[in-house]
Amino acid sequence: MKRYSDLLFACLLFACASASVVANDNTATAQAQALKQATPAKPGSRNMHPDAQWFPDAGLGLFIHWGLASVSATGDLSWGMLANKPWKDATVTPNAYFAQARNWKPDQVNYDQMLVAAKAAGFTYAVMVTKHHDGFTLWPSDYGDLGTKSTFGGRDFVKEFIDACRKQGLKVGLYYSPPDWWFDRHYKNFAYTGGPLDMDHKPVKLPPKPSNHDAKRAELIRGQVRELLTSYGKIDLIWFDGGKGEIPNNEVRQLQPGIVINRRNGGGGDYGDTEGKLPEKRFSDWFETCETCWPSRKWSYTEGQGWDTAPEVIEELVRLRAWGGNLLANLGPKGDGSIPLPALSAWKEMAEWMAHSRESVIGAKAGPWPAEINAPVTTREGVAYIHFLPAFKGEVVWTNAPNAIEARLLRTKDSIPLRYEDGNLHLAIPDSLRTTNVDVVKLSLKKQPQ
Ligand code: GLC
Repeated sequence: MKRYSDLLFACLLFACASASVVANDNTATAQAQALKQATPAKPGSRNMHPDAQWFPDAGLGLFIHWGLASVSATGDLSWGMLANKPWKDATVTPNAYFAQARNWKPDQVNYDQMLVAAKAAGFTYAVMVTKHHDGFTLWPSDYGDLGTKSTFGGRDFVKEFIDACRKQGLKVGLYYSPPDWWFDRHYKNFAYTGGPLDMDHKPVKLPPKPSNHDAKRAELIRGQVRELLTSYGKIDLIWFDGGKGEIPNNEVRQLQPGIVINRRNGGGGDYGDTEGKLPEKRFSDWFETCETCWPSRKWSYTEGQGWDTAPEVIEELVRLRAWGGNLLANLGPKGDGSIPLPALSAWKEMAEWMAHSRESVIGAKAGPWPAEINAPVTTREGVAYIHFLPAFKGEVVWTNAPNAIEARLLRTKDSIPLRYEDGNLHLAIPDSLRTTNVDVVKLSLKKQPQ
């Protein structure tokens, strides 16, 4: 259980250093802090349009981080070009980073294949990075000068992705980074701490930004986001990362009334989130945790990283679903667009699990864990699903439990013995039926008297 020991390590380190610098390995959290966008979803700001109401039932989303950095795969998307980072990541100069475009041959990109496999693995929505902080647009934008228009003769990866989502019936999500380090490059310090450093990481005295620079940047952002929201039909979700409301949520909703908006566009938005770790407290309202999974701890494909296993991802999914949240699990395809094999094999194992236990996580509602029961629970009308996590041993006890008619293991349909003692429900899965993955027991409940 790498993640929980890492978390402990991060907490210890934080306690020791009592500084704002985070554990070396905890890249995602450190990056989120770097963008300083910690505002929770504002109560009452949620989109009530009927087309947005799919979100809390969606359960599992696929995040796709793919871009220039995937080509040489030495450092994380965009972040690789910053010097002096407090977390582990390779560093290349911005000039070397942007030069990777010359060796970029995306000849294995196949969103149809990717999303067929993803759908089988249980994903119900997908969020593609259309432009990361490096500023490279994966569609032929009329705004800005770095993207597929000049690099790949106008190839439109965003369209390819959206068409493939629609074929698979997945909800379409687009990630967009308002921070644009290419647009800012003449005035930007390319050191995370210290500096200022230029695009060769040489000390530099940065010229002052022209007075209209920020206004031009806001124009570019607004233009690009409007393109994304008006060129491809219905978009189900937009995932801003570090916006200040350059294009306000109201305008986004005028263009796409049924869209779900995350909370990183200058406050507001439809749901709360955590990045790189599960929430510690139960949340109310819509929620999503995004996680680095394939590879672990980096958003984009990076040589030498580990890979999350199917049971690790399913455990995180189950913990979130028990509180009503979604997991947005990230894939970093290789530079050529192909999917790393460890991701595919995890997805295959997830597909096997979903074949019998999908109903307990997708479309199911939150349950009373941990207040009343020592295992994550999800619910549907007349049904409760009890999740035996991989490390869990022994008996589940549900205090003041509802009346159950029967309990069955979802995987095999075996009946699971249950008993009531003082109104508390006790049940355990016999060892012979336990696996190294999450095992789910479905409880059919007696109708409550009206
Ligand atoms: C962070 C990072 C970024 C990543 C995003 C995904 O904000 O800055 O690299 O794309 O999280 O959640």
